[in-house]
Amino acid sequence: MERHFVSDAHPVTRSAAPSLDLGAFPADFAWGTATSAYQIEGAVAEDGRAPSIWDTFAHTPGAVDNADHGDTACDHYHRWPEDVALMKELGTDAYRMSIAWPRVLPGGDGPVNAAGLDFYDRLVDALLDAGITPSVTLYHWDLPQALQDRTGRNGAGQNRAGEWRGGWTERDTAEHFAHYTSVVAARLGDRVGQWATLNEPLCSAWIGHLEGRMAPGWTDLTAAVRASYHLLLGHGLAVQALRAAVPGARIGLVTNHSTVEPASTRPEDVAAAVRADGHTNRWWLDPVYGRGFPADMRELYAVELPEREGDPAVIGAPLDWHGLNYYFPVTVADDPAGPVPYAREVRVPGLPRTGMDWPVDAGGLEAFLLRLTEEYGVRRLYVTENGSAFPDAVGPDGRVDDPHRTGYLEQHLAACARALRKGAPLAGYYAWSLLDNFEWAYGYDKRFGLVHVDYATQRRTVKASGRRYADIIRAHRTRNR
Ligand code: FCB
Repeated sequence: MERHFVSDAHPVTRSAAPSLDLGAFPADFAWGTATSAYQIEGAVAEDGRAPSIWDTFAHTPGAVDNADHGDTACDHYHRWPEDVALMKELGTDAYRMSIAWPRVLPGGDGPVNAAGLDFYDRLVDALLDAGITPSVTLYHWDLPQALQDRTGRNGAGQNRAGEWRGGWTERDTAEHFAHYTSVVAARLGDRVGQWATLNEPLCSAWIGHLEGRMAPGWTDLTAAVRASYHLLLGHGLAVQALRAAVPGARIGLVTNHSTVEPASTRPEDVAAAVRADGHTNRWWLDPVYGRGFPADMRELYAVELPEREGDPAVIGAPLDWHGLNYYFPVTVADDPAGPVPYAREVRVPGLPRTGMDWPVDAGGLEAFLLRLTEEYGVRRLYVTENGSAFPDAVGPDGRVDDPHRTGYLEQHLAACARALRKGAPLAGYYAWSLLDNFEWAYGYDKRFGLVHVDYATQRRTVKASGRRYADIIRAHRTRNR
């Protein structure tokens, strides 16, 4: 059988006190931070923006902790000059941001809302003026609600009982996404060279349509598999749109992954790990890298894919880079009575945990960077997200001391250095996140920022981890001067 466990080839290094090997990072390494539109912007009804599925979901009773929502978030829509100044203060030279589709095309397709585009236009100019290279993600989960509410031309996307319809279960949505992409590219393409189509399609499809913990909040395997297919198709169509609109654009896809290990050497657990790896990793990477959807998973889901001739080449179109979002590793045991993929997560004793209850193991980042390099042949890589939530507080001296986040950052940068030394073509790292922000179904309690946000006053305070990141960036620059 094929090798599925990265750790077979790259044993996980569990290092408690890493020393950062700055010499491993190329001189032009991009040091960045990342955010996404709905998590920081607020101003949800301003200047012609229409609701997205996240506005709807967040306002559904019980969907989000504390009934939090993104109506105001970090008020970045108004405070962006201050936020760009913060990036400059940290010394970062790259920023990964997303565009809110419902600001640009409030109906999903149809008329363009010029005011929505103007906002991003100003932001991009300000970033460039500050010497910060924008990396624009076109879809970070905020589908226009109008598209969720619509069935396709053929009524496809609706099951016989009429239980679900619209959104990513429809092929039309992939086509609308490509159109929206051309609209944004036509406006920003003269200044933005670095583009990502989707952020973490796994979360949109599996968490949004199968587990129901994210928008649109469904629990239907057929809908989820159809959504996964149309998301990747939309990715491929958006690549085409970008290539046509922005000659020389550097185009990538951002996916989230975990290394998957079996809880024991029992054949049942090993098989469960192969399934979990298929669900979390191979389903998303194989078709994008020209291998088609993995046969074992197609059989497991037993849902007919809405495939058409020519789609595999669209989905597998060559990319200029791949963005890896990495947070935690996963260990699983067989769970025949559980939900797809019949693999239950097992707690590994001894691994520290973040405020999300996610295990901390930077070895998984190193291993996955090497897997993308060796198994999928990726030739340019970015860590597009990596970070940790801990309950922070502003101290009486006005400072935010967050040693756990600093440790997490240092360990994961050390993992990047090891991967670089072993040949991973890693070109940049974007810390998640610049700011504390709306952490989806967890609301505002989970703080991932290098910069603390007091939501009552919108006051920003750079945390100790942010200062440490700034020191590392400065040291790397000094070295390469
Ligand atoms: C990722 C998301 C990002 C953020 C982090 C913590 O899954 O892409 O928006 O919520 O997790």
